[in-house]
Amino acid sequence: MKIIALSTSPSRNRNSDTMLDNFIIGMNKVAGIEVEKIYLEDIPIDFYNYENSTGPALHEEKFRDLIGKIENSDGLVIATPTYNFSVPARLKNFIDRIRFLALDLTKHNKFGQPVGKLSYLRTYFIVSGGTPNWAETILFFAFPSFWLRGVFLYFDAKVLGAFYTGNIKAFEDKVILDKCIKKGERYANMVKNKKGNSILERIFWRAPQV
Ligand SMILES: Cc1cc2nc3c(=O)[nH]c(=O)nc-3n(C[C@H](O)[C@H](O)[C@H](O)COP(=O)(O)O)c2cc1C
Repeated sequence: MKIIALSTSPSRNRNSDTMLDNFIIGMNKVAGIEVEKIYLEDIPIDFYNYENSTGPALHEEKFRDLIGKIENSDGLVIATPTYNFSVPARLKNFIDRIRFLALDLTKHNKFGQPVGKLSYLRTYFIVSGGTPNWAETILFFAFPSFWLRGVFLYFDAKVLGAFYTGNIKAFEDKVILDKCIKKGERYANMVKNKKGNSILERIFWRAPQV
């Protein structure tokens, strides 16, 4: 089974990127799982507009390759920092651009919204921030883990969990990095066993009827 590990911070080898590396160490412990790490900044992607809404433009070869890889993957892990209560612009634009991959615009649910197409994809989110963990727990709605989980549920992907740390030195914190290894192994086992949504999603989320 294939898992794409997408590192989206502009700062390599810092917090979310190092957390992802350790998550990958954990995933690689699971037999039968093949992980590919990709830096989003290595993939030039134009900003979304109506013209490019149906797929990659001719000159966006690397973006087209990435789309093909996601289509042939069982899992997608996104590692991101928190920027202004949200994600870095590059990740936001990537999510805007994959609309054609993620949504069937010809079908609508009872709210008139397009129907998600990513039911084959099991997702996990690794998030770094500068806000302490206790404050993130209270203000969870102002952080990328909450937003990303919501977006990928809207895309009908399976959401298997998220891990946040507010330690701005996470890249050298052995306790956090060891946790990432364990969570990576657990996630890869869940992908292998084709697990559904995590407990939070099962309690709070009902997909609107088509
Ligand atoms: C432009 C910018 C905006 C930020 N906004 C937030 C924020 O809204 N909330 C927060 O908790 N941390 C914020 N931070 C702190 C980063 O999320 C934090 O330093 C994080 O660990 C960086 O992760 P990275 O090393 O993976 O890039 C911001 C940092 C920058 C550079």
